Amino acid sequence: MLFIALQVYAALSIQLGGVLAVALKPYDSLAGLSRDEVDAFANGVKVVGAQPVPPPIKDTSLKLVNDALHPWRPLSPGDQRGPCPGLNTLASHGWLPRSGVATPAQIMDAVQNGFNMAWSTALVITYAAFLVDGNPLTNLMSIGGSSRLTGPSPPAPAVVGGLSRHGTFEGDASMTRSDAFLGDNHSFNETLFQQLVAISNAVGGGKYNVSAAAEVRFQRFQDSVARNPTFDFSNPRFATAFGETIFPMAFFIDGRDKSLALDLEVMRGFFQDSRMPVDFHRRDGAFDGGGTEFDLIFNSHDYFPGFNNGSVNNFVADPFFLGTQTVAACALYEKFVNTTVELYPSPSGVLRDALNKNLDNFFLGFADQCTQIKPFP
Ligand code: HEM
Repeated sequence: MLFIALQVYAALSIQLGGVLAVALKPYDSLAGLSRDEVDAFANGVKVVGAQPVPPPIKDTSLKLVNDALHPWRPLSPGDQRGPCPGLNTLASHGWLPRSGVATPAQIMDAVQNGFNMAWSTALVITYAAFLVDGNPLTNLMSIGGSSRLTGPSPPAPAVVGGLSRHGTFEGDASMTRSDAFLGDNHSFNETLFQQLVAISNAVGGGKYNVSAAAEVRFQRFQDSVARNPTFDFSNPRFATAFGETIFPMAFFIDGRDKSLALDLEVMRGFFQDSRMPVDFHRRDGAFDGGGTEFDLIFNSHDYFPGFNNGSVNNFVADPFFLGTQTVAACALYEKFVNTTVELYPSPSGVLRDALNKNLDNFFLGFADQCTQIKPFP
C-alpha cells in the first residue's frame, strides 16, 4: 500500500536471573526488551537474523492461483490471521505458511506469486511492516497478533509483534476493521462491510468500483473523525489508507475480468473468509500501485495527514508532514526509521546486525530518491 502513495505523492522463553520470567513465541517482537532479555531470548531460539531480499519473480502472466497445490483450508488451532485480507488469503491457501507466521522473503514471494504485486511495492510494504512488527532475530513475523493461542504476552515495556498491533503499521479508518479505540482492529466487521455494500449499491452499480472506493474511503474517514478521539490519520496510515482502497480492485478481481468492478460476494470471500473464488486467476502483469484510480480516490475529497487532537471532531494537521501536503517518500522512509529507533533505542550484537540489515533492505525501495539514514552505527 505504502508504495502506491510513495510513487504517486512523492509492519520460547526468557530466563531472567534463572527464573522463567517471560514467555515469547519465536515470532513475537523484541521491541522494548533490555539487552539482557534480548541475549536470553537469542540463546533460546534459533537466531536467523536478517536475510537478503529475494529477487523479483520472472513470470508475471495471468495464472490460476486457486490451484490444486493451493486449496483453501479452514484454520487450525493457533493459526494467525490479522487485518490484511491479502496476506490472510495467501495463508489460507498455502501461498504463505498456513500458520500465518512467515519470513519477509516468504511474504514477498507469496504476494508476487499469489497476486502479482510488483516486487518494489512488496519490498517496501513488507520491510516497513517487518521493522516495526516482526522479530529481527528469528526473522519471523505474525500476520496476526497475540491471542490466547500464542501464549502469554511479555510484560511491559515489551510488546507482542504482529500485524494486528495497533499504531506501528495497522491503523485507523480501515474499510472492514474497526478502529482499535472503538473495538476489534483486526477481525472482519459485518457492520462496516454492510456500509461498504450500501455505498457500492448507491454509487458503484452494486459493485466495488473506483466510485464506491472513493466514497467508502471518505465515509470511513468521517466516521473516525466523529467517533474516535484518538483517531490518527497521519503517516504512515495516511499513505496506506488510500492504497488499501485500490487493492481489492487491483488484486481481488479475476485476471480475466477487465471491468475494475469487484463483485461484493467475492469481496466478502477475501475479506471475511480469506478465500479466493473457485478457479481464481491472478491479474495479468505486476501491479505497482500507481495509476489513475489512486488519483481519483485521493482527489475526490479534501484530505491531509492529521489526527483528532484529543477529542472527536477536532481534526488537525500533523506538523511533521506539513508542507509536504500529502506523502513525501523520504519523509515516510524517515518515519519508519524513527519508529524502529523508538522501538529499539540502543540495540547491540546480533540484534543490531539484524536491524541494520533490514534497514538496508527497506532502503532499497527508496535508494533512487532519498538519503540513507543509519541510526545504529
Ligand atoms: C506485502 C505485504 C503486505 C503487508 C505487510 C500488509 C499489511 C497490511 C496491514 C498491516 C493492513 C492493516 C492496515 C489497516 O487497515 O490498518 C493491511 C490492510 C489491507 N491489505 Fe495488506 N499487506 C500486504 C500485502 C497486501 C496484498 C498483496 C493485498 C491484496 C492482495 C493487501 C490488501 C489489503 C487490503 C485490501 C487492506 C485493507 C483492509 C481493510 O481496510 O479492511 N495487502 N495490510
